[in-house]
Amino acid sequence: MPTNAMTAPAVRASKDSGTPLVMVTAYDAPGARIADEAGVDIILVGDSVAMVVLGYDDTLQVTVDDMAHHVGAVARAGPRPLVVADMPWMSYHVSVEDTVRNAARLMRAGAEAVKLEGGRKRLDMVKAIVDAEVPVMGHIGLTPQSIHALGGFKVQGKQAEAATALVDDAVALADAGCFAIVLEAVPDGVARAVTEAVAVPTIGIGAGPWCDGQVLVFHDVLGIEDRISPKFVRRYANLKADSVAALCEYAADVRAGRFPADDESYHLSDDVAEALGLYGAQTKSA
Ligand code: KIV
Repeated sequence: MPTNAMTAPAVRASKDSGTPLVMVTAYDAPGARIADEAGVDIILVGDSVAMVVLGYDDTLQVTVDDMAHHVGAVARAGPRPLVVADMPWMSYHVSVEDTVRNAARLMRAGAEAVKLEGGRKRLDMVKAIVDAEVPVMGHIGLTPQSIHALGGFKVQGKQAEAATALVDDAVALADAGCFAIVLEAVPDGVARAVTEAVAVPTIGIGAGPWCDGQVLVFHDVLGIEDRISPKFVRRYANLKADSVAALCEYAADVRAGRFPADDESYHLSDDVAEALGLYGAQTKSA
């Protein structure tokens, strides 16, 4: 862990600091280095890896082994931001023992905290993980692991009863020991009510400006994923378009004989070239 590393207690203590927390997902070592150099506070190794990297239609397909593989890659970059690992679907639903074992697997892979989805119905699991000395981040609102139960990727908490339930869930999660809570796809007023009701930071995605921090998916912020664009995503780059353009140039150079150039090639000494029967210029013209 770098000496100036971000920690879960430091995230917890940042509530009301006046400076919003910055969280972004990353799934491999280069992504972790980019996030680190950009000075973000928290790297989430999200189960969104299923959709933006592994080509699945939802997040339900990834396993603890898949997550540990990606957590390990992020952790080996030795980033300063806090590394939080998403607990995938069915890794915290079967029993408390199974939940703690799965959280431990992600911590041993290099995570410094875990995140799990759901409110009051997950309290036993949250408490057991916290008891095992593992910091837990909550996640309520649109919980993508519940898309079939929710009927799709839909904004949550629009009606008074559902909004109140979200506030109660957040308070219960904070009381159970969560050091921060993600609020996904909820009206800004609900996020404001939750943020005012809990003493731990809220981190929003599609939850408006009243949260204590914001999170976005790496591939969305950088424009690597350009097929879907939820209303709450702001793109700061167009890396998919830039990458396609760069590879087109590379292909054109190879096909036209412009790549590799002389100074991109290794050369034989003249005597070895002669021994191989190669005479004349050692430089191929395009
Ligand atoms: O997996 C993920 O990327 C997430 C964020 C949307 C918060 O859980």
